[in-house]
Amino acid sequence: MALREIITNDDEFLSKKSRPVDNIDKRIIDLVDDMKQTLIKSGGVGLAAPQVGVLRRVFIIDIDAEGDGGSLKEFINPEIIKKKGRNDKYLEGCLSYPGRSFKIIRPNKVKLRAQNVKGEWFEFEGEDFIARAIMHENDHLDGITIPQIGTEVFE
Ligand code: CO
Repeated sequence: MALREIITNDDEFLSKKSRPVDNIDKRIIDLVDDMKQTLIKSGGVGLAAPQVGVLRRVFIIDIDAEGDGGSLKEFINPEIIKKKGRNDKYLEGCLSYPGRSFKIIRPNKVKLRAQNVKGEWFEFEGEDFIARAIMHENDHLDGITIPQIGTEVFE
């Protein structure tokens, strides 16, 4: 495993759309391992492949949100099935926009399907903080970043 460099403040690159993963080969498995290590080091909650310079549809989330890195889950080729629940407005940060926060409105529940590193499809439902993290990371795969959709808050 190796740490990868997180791209910051490069709106042009971070606005690109990522391509699906056709084949979960060693490169993708290594990418997921490296992303997990990089996320643990950075202390974030989620990380998407384009943030480390790879335009592929992969993100990882710490599904316990405890920040200890013990519950990192990979989502390969994720497809949002349903977004529902109340619309909440919360502050979000992003490892690609360090030190900045943006108020973003999102529904508080999400259901999606994705593949793990073994290529197995699974369904996952998240609420509140986890739902928000999933939608944030999934947005990265479509080139959508929080400066584009949120209101910056200066404190
Ligand atoms: Co982000």
